[in-house]
Amino acid sequence: MAHNPISTLFNIQFPIIQGGMVWCSGWKLASAVSNAGGLGLIGSGSMSPELLEEHIIKCKAATQNPFGVNVPLLYPNAEAHIEMILKHRVPVVFTSAGNPSLFTKKLKENRCIVAHVIANTKFARKAEEAGVDALVAEGFEAGGHNGKEETTSFCLIPQIAAATNLPIIAAGGIYDGRSWLAAEALGASAIQVGTRFAASTESSAHIKYKQTIISAKEGDTQLTLKQLTPVRMFKNNLYEKLEDLISKGTHSDELKSFMGKGRSKKGVFEGDLMEGELEMGAISSQITKTESAKEIITNLVETYQMARKSLINNDFLS
Ligand SMILES: Cc1cc2nc3c(=O)[nH]c(=O)nc-3n(C[C@H](O)[C@H](O)[C@H](O)COP(=O)(O)O)c2cc1C
Repeated sequence: MAHNPISTLFNIQFPIIQGGMVWCSGWKLASAVSNAGGLGLIGSGSMSPELLEEHIIKCKAATQNPFGVNVPLLYPNAEAHIEMILKHRVPVVFTSAGNPSLFTKKLKENRCIVAHVIANTKFARKAEEAGVDALVAEGFEAGGHNGKEETTSFCLIPQIAAATNLPIIAAGGIYDGRSWLAAEALGASAIQVGTRFAASTESSAHIKYKQTIISAKEGDTQLTLKQLTPVRMFKNNLYEKLEDLISKGTHSDELKSFMGKGRSKKGVFEGDLMEGELEMGAISSQITKTESAKEIITNLVETYQMARKSLINNDFLS
């Protein structure tokens, strides 16, 4: 596969990024993705700085290829995580959920490549001003926390391509090479896949959470908590309770205390399907099995090549 701005930037074989995901993407998943030619990301959002250090060391031992760490900037440990990343000279950092100017300069001074996750044009421009090397344009189909504007990937990617000069990584609703090719046509140079990897063999998520992704149907996920921190999750018992509180006009402080701490750990890591927060994307309805990271990467590349060929063969202008 020919190199493009993202595969060259990260020095990877395929422009496929495995999204950093709390409770799913530790060293096992990240190193398996990097070994298969993509870019694996350790999701630091569910880790203490000491645990992150352990994962970085194990990831380095498990792959010779580049890998990175995702740091959600609103998390209390963000600064300590950045220090840990610099201590171990991790080559790539993906920041999300916060102000991109917080650590970008420091990371770049230490020769780290920085990508920032955005869900609208305003933050894309902010991230460009802050000096990041690439943007992840994440549509609201994506699993986990995302934009309250509810902009779909199809609408978001061309808007970001028009608004900035940075290479774009498309995220949200990507299952196989057909959606990858569509993202490219809209202006992206690479893809970031989350939910499909969350259900993978190497994901550290609970088996019951993986089975919920596999059995999910169309309409089973929804963006909720727009007043607080918008998140797309499976519509379980917790979701119904939340919607009930929201429909009664419950204040965001009360919603916060209702959610409490550790809801996603409960759902994703401990497999509490009733009371846990089951973050997953709308693409869950297309995911039908647990695969290894290598199988996912191979399938993405094969279906991308097939989709390209079939588009050329079907070109109505030819
Ligand atoms: C369980 C789960 C946890 C996630 N945690 C994070 C996170 O900690 N930081 C982040 O930037 N994105 C997080 N995401 C978003 C993913 O990195 C990725 O951008 C998104 O899942 C892509 O959309 P898709 O789910 O449609 O593939 C999470 C997604 C899921 C499903």
